[in-house]
Amino acid sequence: MPELILGITGDCNLDCGFCFEDRDGELTQEQIQQYVSAFIGDHVEIGGGEPFLRKDLVHIVKQIIAQGKTVQIATNGTIMREDFMRLDEGTRSKVSLQVSLHAGTPETYREITSYDMFDQVVENLRGFVLSYVTGLSCAMYAENIGELPEILSISYELGLPIRVGLVFPNDRFKGRLLTPEQVRELGEQLLVEKTVSEGLVESSLLRPNICPVLSGVYGLEKKGACPAENGHKLYVDPSGMEHRCEFLVS
Ligand SMILES: C[S@@+](CC[C@H](N)C(=O)[O-])C[C@H]1O[C@@H](n2cnc3c(N)ncnc32)[C@H](O)[C@@H]1O
Ligand code: SF4
Repeated sequence: MPELILGITGDCNLDCGFCFEDRDGELTQEQIQQYVSAFIGDHVEIGGGEPFLRKDLVHIVKQIIAQGKTVQIATNGTIMREDFMRLDEGTRSKVSLQVSLHAGTPETYREITSYDMFDQVVENLRGFVLSYVTGLSCAMYAENIGELPEILSISYELGLPIRVGLVFPNDRFKGRLLTPEQVRELGEQLLVEKTVSEGLVESSLLRPNICPVLSGVYGLEKKGACPAENGHKLYVDPSGMEHRCEFLVS
């Protein structure tokens, strides 16, 4: 499946210690239009930065849907906008939310993001789920591995699917990555959680690894080609630069 990920703004209201995105700027509506109309797939992902900081987000969403695509918005979930929540049902049915939640307590959330927004995100999730297909996503490293049970509890309590991945290191990352042994244990734990949760838990660690970065960093055996290697994936950062993958920007 071809993938198109548009980093529509470099602006963000959090400062996650591992974030790969540090580009300024934003994609114009014309650039978005061009990339979407040239894209042969039927599903577009938008991220950033924080997409909900863009005043014209609703316009962008409608613009993409008007080209016959569905849209997934990757968001930190801190902002709930009235214009977005009030979209008509037909539009909402073509939009899904992937909300990042990398901590299970306010304290760790602050350590990771530098902001006290944990309670706000959990409250917003309760609202998002009423109007949009919503999923959670978290990237694990030494900082938050101890809170996996709390993070999963939030997913289970709200009945939201959760995608658990690993932090990809970049030039600015100063934290500690999981060791290969911890990654192996995490995989085993996630397999149990997937069964217990009847499929709410999803992870790249539960599938054969196709990512060359994960292979290099965590020693996971690579078993096949990833969409980036096949030329099936395009990430456009907020400055308009094109990359084969969002995790290969720095
Ligand atoms: C760059 S963010 C943009 C959207 C939004 N601000 C958010 O946080 O969801 C997109 C996704 O990439 C994840 N991410 C950022 N840097 C990462 C890294 N170094 N390793 C793994 N995931 C990362 C974020 O946690 C988020 O789930
Ligand atoms: S991961 Fe998302 S919320 Fe965190 S700093 Fe990066 S863009 Fe902002």
